Amino acid sequence: MDSQLKDSFGREITYLRLSVTDRCDLRCTYCMAENMTFLPRKDLLTLEELDSLCSSFIARGIRKIRLTGGEPLVRRDLMGFIERLSRHRESGALDEITLTTNGTQLKRFAGDLKAYGVERINISLDSRDPDTFLKLTRRAVLEDVLRGIEAAQEAGLKIKINTVALKGTNDAEIPELMTWAHGLGMDMTLIEVMPLGDIDEDRVDQYLPLTAVRDELEKRFTLIDTPMKTGGPARYVKVAETGGILGMITPLTNNFCAGCNRVRVTCTGQIYTCLGHGDKLDLREAIRGSNPDLELDKLLNLAMHQKPEKHHFDISERGARPAVTRHMSVTGG
Ligand code: GTP
Ligand code: 5AD
Ligand code: SF4
Repeated sequence: MDSQLKDSFGREITYLRLSVTDRCDLRCTYCMAENMTFLPRKDLLTLEELDSLCSSFIARGIRKIRLTGGEPLVRRDLMGFIERLSRHRESGALDEITLTTNGTQLKRFAGDLKAYGVERINISLDSRDPDTFLKLTRRAVLEDVLRGIEAAQEAGLKIKINTVALKGTNDAEIPELMTWAHGLGMDMTLIEVMPLGDIDEDRVDQYLPLTAVRDELEKRFTLIDTPMKTGGPARYVKVAETGGILGMITPLTNNFCAGCNRVRVTCTGQIYTCLGHGDKLDLREAIRGSNPDLELDKLLNLAMHQKPEKHHFDISERGARPAVTRHMSVTGG
């Protein structure tokens, strides 16, 4: 058997997005409802099980692992987990261990992350205006995030700021956010909001196509296309005036699925082969069974067979049901 994970469209899967918790200390309006029911802790895979799962994925050709949530840094003893995982980087089996965080806990953990071999992290920040931040995240912790970003810089972590473009909320602030990020030597990526899970607002009121944001930015800045690749879905430009890098993730206006190299595993061990589809397979049962290696291999082969060609997101109709009912916080985006 060829051990490299490869789907039926010939795409090699080398990037695992592992959600270590569905919990989060924020309640971003485009991601969650205010009142969320989180999974009972007993349903979660233990850190030992997650570690063993990562080893199995690495044996099948995974080269990059991104830890996500919810908010990954709220999972207890995540640092111990990353420290153990770093053996795969040291052996050369993994190219990268990284995470996507909302930044609230970074002040505490930035130093350890760097010490355990994390080189760069993505930090979600949609606004630097305290009122807008509170309105968007429903929590008044902007200062913690900004202190967290400082701590990450001091620790020597390379940072990319992730900003979801939201109509009438942060659109006017995007140029300023970008110059701020670039001024501090951070890259920035803009993201189109995706219709995942029921939230308290209508997506039609949030959705801002990045084609429109790009047109606005080009009135003030020179955007030069670059071939830069991080293994994620963003396309990157260089901004001549700031010297910084701006990424754009356009699941709605420009589908990037042909280059998809990733799968997602949730904190309960469900594998999702596409963010835009509900299909999943239960790896937990396999790894807790009597022949875990064999069962897991079989399920991963089946997952490769089932991985869909692309997502079909649409945000045009008011009152429409989300493309998938699961929230982004289940799979970590
Ligand atoms: P890099 O390693 O820096 O390229 O990171 P990344 O873009 O892969 O990861 P990140 O966690 O920062 O994700 C940024 C955004 O991209 C999130 O909103 C994700 O939901 C979205 N994203 C990542 N992969 C996919 C995908 O396969 N399909 C879609 N539609 N969105 C994705
Ligand atoms: N659409 C687009 N991006 C989202 N994120 C969370 N929910 C959504 C959504 N519905 C983003 C977060 C974070 C990343 C993991 O996903 O802001 O940057
Ligand atoms: Fe938490 Fe990230 Fe969702 Fe915001 S987008 S509520 S920070 S999981």
